[in-house]
Amino acid sequence: MNAASHAELVAASPHVMNTYARLPIAFSHGDGCHVWDVNGKRYLDALAGIAVNTLGHNHPQLVPALQDQIAKLIHTSNYYHVPHQETLAARLVELSGMTNVFFCSTGLEANEAALKLARKFGHDRGITRPQIVVYENAFHGRSIATLSATGNLKVQAGFGPLLEGFIRVPLNDIDALRKATDGNPDVVAVFFEAIQGEGGIRPMRTEYLCQVRALCDERNWLLMIDEVQCGMGRTGKWFAHQWAGITPDVMPLAKGLGSGVPIGAVVAGPKAATLFAPGNHGTTFGGNPLAMRAGIETLRIMQKDDLLANATRVGAHMRAALERELADEIRSTRVKEVRGLGLMIGVELDRPCSALVGQCADNGLLISVTADTVVRLLPPLIMDTTQADEVIRILCPLIKALLASAP
Ligand SMILES: Cc1ncc(COP(=O)(O)O)c(C=O)c1O
Repeated sequence: MNAASHAELVAASPHVMNTYARLPIAFSHGDGCHVWDVNGKRYLDALAGIAVNTLGHNHPQLVPALQDQIAKLIHTSNYYHVPHQETLAARLVELSGMTNVFFCSTGLEANEAALKLARKFGHDRGITRPQIVVYENAFHGRSIATLSATGNLKVQAGFGPLLEGFIRVPLNDIDALRKATDGNPDVVAVFFEAIQGEGGIRPMRTEYLCQVRALCDERNWLLMIDEVQCGMGRTGKWFAHQWAGITPDVMPLAKGLGSGVPIGAVVAGPKAATLFAPGNHGTTFGGNPLAMRAGIETLRIMQKDDLLANATRVGAHMRAALERELADEIRSTRVKEVRGLGLMIGVELDRPCSALVGQCADNGLLISVTADTVVRLLPPLIMDTTQADEVIRILCPLIKALLASAP
């Protein structure tokens, strides 16, 4: 395709609803950690479709497995048994130490199921107006329920009335959590991301995770940890909360679980696994054979190629390189913090930096900026240190130039 037709392709898209501020780029194909646009320009992918393409692009084992599955069965509906659901559920149960799984197709659906589980948990105990603790700056999705749980006024604006039944608290403050809930018999669950993604790569501290687990046990609440973005090996453990040695009662998953095939799952432990009975919850696409095969193969390849260790190693390499290259900016606090775990890294600047997204793309690198001031890196878990060095080589001079200009 020539340059003119590329420009035409991206200049106007009159029939697609205008819900995204898109870059003027359209991709034609990918391989490993690279993608190519329709003009043939190559980009290094440090975003992985927002933490989705766990195995990168055109993976030599995933692609034939999906082709095989497409030729056999794509979809059958949940009127029938889907044997691949049991295979994937058994594997998720083994990796999480939990007991049962419900499959859906997206992150918000997994969170929606979690919120319904929490309400059912309350109703089964005679609590008719159950309340769920949620967090400042949280992001859980864009349905009305998950939007109500989300802690971002910009995302919520224009969609009221939001759902009742949420109590909002700050991160990492156990006294604030106690104070917000003391004496309230209607609280049924605490719900948060182990590391906030859209909120700016903000981790829950290990000590806090342990304190909340203990409080949930003491008060018989469900601990529900949204691992949609930070789960599936991204931080170097299968699930980010495992760094604290705790196990939640409910864990929504999506994004990286299918390496690009839409999939969601809510994993439940003994306190939540039998709350739903037939008729309480469902979805047409959830758990279809193609999505299940994508999940099974993703987990198999991650294990075989030890991608958790790779995420830890390459993530540490990348963070160290960022800290080295940006040492002056860190010292002068124009870079406020480099944070994250494994291949989930945020660089918080002292000013809005969304311009970096387009500048990086111009230089052949895909990244994102979230929460206005945080450069976010979420590369495929197959990225190697040479590619990580390339990310740094392109990104850091652009950050430096932005910080050298007037704020
Ligand atoms: C932590 C978290 N939860 C839920 C969601 C919503 O997932 P989806 O866009 O698949 O509905 C996201 C999406 O970014 C997320 O980061």
